[in-house]
Amino acid sequence: MLELNVDLGDRSYPIFIGSDLFSTPDYFQPYIKGKRVAIVTNETVAPFYLGLIKRTLATYDLSVITLPDGEKYKNLETLNLIFDQLLEERHTRKTTLLALGGGVIGDMTGFAAACYQRGVDFIQVPTTLLSQVDSSVGGKTGVNHALGKNMIGAFYQPNVVIIDTATLGTLPDRELSAGLAEVIKYGLICDKPFYQWLLENIGRLMDRDPEALSYAIHQSCRDKARVVEADEKESGIRAILNLGHTFGHAIETHTGYGDWLHGEAVAAGMVMAADLSCREGNISREEVDELVYLLERVSLPVMPPSGITPDRFLELMAVDKKVLDGQLRLVLLDSVGHAVVSDSFSHQHLMASLEWFCC
Ligand code: NAD
Ligand code: GLY
Repeated sequence: MLELNVDLGDRSYPIFIGSDLFSTPDYFQPYIKGKRVAIVTNETVAPFYLGLIKRTLATYDLSVITLPDGEKYKNLETLNLIFDQLLEERHTRKTTLLALGGGVIGDMTGFAAACYQRGVDFIQVPTTLLSQVDSSVGGKTGVNHALGKNMIGAFYQPNVVIIDTATLGTLPDRELSAGLAEVIKYGLICDKPFYQWLLENIGRLMDRDPEALSYAIHQSCRDKARVVEADEKESGIRAILNLGHTFGHAIETHTGYGDWLHGEAVAAGMVMAADLSCREGNISREEVDELVYLLERVSLPVMPPSGITPDRFLELMAVDKKVLDGQLRLVLLDSVGHAVVSDSFSHQHLMASLEWFCC
């Protein structure tokens, strides 16, 4: 079992990473203060892992809130289903919410925990690679709006993150690849040695080698924790975690939530950010090609969907949360292994890049 700590003063919490953690009450009990636990999950994840979690937490008074599965349900209407059941069952501030599922369940449960009776405890139990390496750590919670991805939400940290790597055994290949996009992101933005390791070990990750997966999850969570510790509420450096996301969110909003997986949109977005970084003279064309090679090895898209135009990109990117005083800011690479947030890139380069990708 590997353990990390997210050091945020009185909001600090541990991340446990290992196989078969779900059957051990000791990973859960110290982080549950009251007698009641409401497990929020979905109809896909529940048949795999709900029974095991219920047995492990059998000493608690358990409720189960089962939501429909999918990014298209990550909205206020579905969030309300959580509140409806919590209120119908008369849950108080002492209830702990437990998010059992991928990033959609984690983001919605965290937001529900932030709002229910002005805040209750919550535990992240992520079951996709993407949620294990990214969304369960750092306290970003929320839902989508028709006009923009993750536009309604709150920063709200969990009490603990429990990552059982055995859950990856049931994850579809496409979802594994989507998670690897975020893993590759950490190498690009802040960890060149890890990026080098990924270039050499990507085959092992695709083959689901347990040791390689645990190492990649640990490195990713460690990198993310360090960035979050430096800037919990994203007033600066945390924005580098969004490499490729401004382009990616535009793709997700354009295609309608759920058609492209988040990790797929991020993959294409990272290539677009790398291309612009290259046009800006920061990284070489060979380094862009190396990234394309890595993403293609993982069967991830390296181009946006056909039909999206440069103007549509600009329109959708204008609602990005990084836009400041009407000025578009993008996460760019100033070298492989080091990202910066920039508003000083050349508009001509951006347009040339968008035109290249959209034609
Ligand atoms: P997801 O939650 O939709 O899960 C993907 C699919 O896998 C779903 O169908 C789910 O039911 C299924 N699934 C989950 N675990 C499984 C398992 N072990 N075996 C089989 N199937 C399983 O998607 P995701 O990729 O986990 O998360 C994407 C979401 O995370 C997006 O909404 C994105 O915005 C959000 N996100 C948030 C942050 C953050 O910091 N909060 C960071 C990155 C992404
Ligand atoms: N996934 C981006 C962040 O957590 O800030």
